[in-house]
Amino acid sequence: MSAASPIAIALDGPAASGKTVVGRMVARKLGYRFLDTGVMYRAMTWAALQAKINPKDAAKLRGLARERPVVVVFGEDRGVLVLVGGVDATPHVREAEVEQAVSLVSQVAEVRDALVAVQRRLAQEADIVMAGRDIGTVVLPDAPVKVFLTASAQERARRRHAEMQARGDGTTYEQVLAELQRRDKLDSGRKVSPMRPAPDAQVVVTDGMSEEQVASFLLALIGRKLP
Ligand code: DC
Repeated sequence: MSAASPIAIALDGPAASGKTVVGRMVARKLGYRFLDTGVMYRAMTWAALQAKINPKDAAKLRGLARERPVVVVFGEDRGVLVLVGGVDATPHVREAEVEQAVSLVSQVAEVRDALVAVQRRLAQEADIVMAGRDIGTVVLPDAPVKVFLTASAQERARRRHAEMQARGDGTTYEQVLAELQRRDKLDSGRKVSPMRPAPDAQVVVTDGMSEEQVASFLLALIGRKLP
């Protein structure tokens, strides 16, 4: 952590744009924390499903956001944990039901307000690379470095499909592409904090680039922007 106020790097972009892998690489190199804010929306979604709340029931989701605070714990060896109302949701955030429902849950303004408040507090604690959809536009509009990482839907689907195949998941490329396009539409079409680049963000289109190349590009950009 720096002696003055901590530094925040805002890293936004659509699903499977490489934000998490690249953000983690950049954070490690800089000695900053890394937070993937998508995990917080996923944790809240898991808690909603556990409580048998229909992800379309905004009133119940508002109640959940009020009653179950989300806490992020940066551990040395176990990585980042996300607790909802004191329960560790981290092992569940990639479950298929969560994946299906998260775009709906993240449309609810009160859910967003609760999570954004936590994200802003975390940015006050220590230097951080924060990845999401609205970090540069809403969460940290004064961040000194803002990057919007993107790639064509086909490239993102190809990368995600390769990862899934490596895990033995038999989902087809066409299914992965359709799911990404569905999420893109919901994330950028929603009324509250839609996904879009901040006017002062550097948009980086990563088609054809490796993760290492993107990370080096970002580190060079950060080096130019930060004194
Ligand atoms: O990055 P991800 O796929 O884990 O994000 C899961 C969902 O959370 C995504 O569909 C949109 C939402 N999200 C958001 O609305 N704002 C953020 N800052 C991060 C994620």
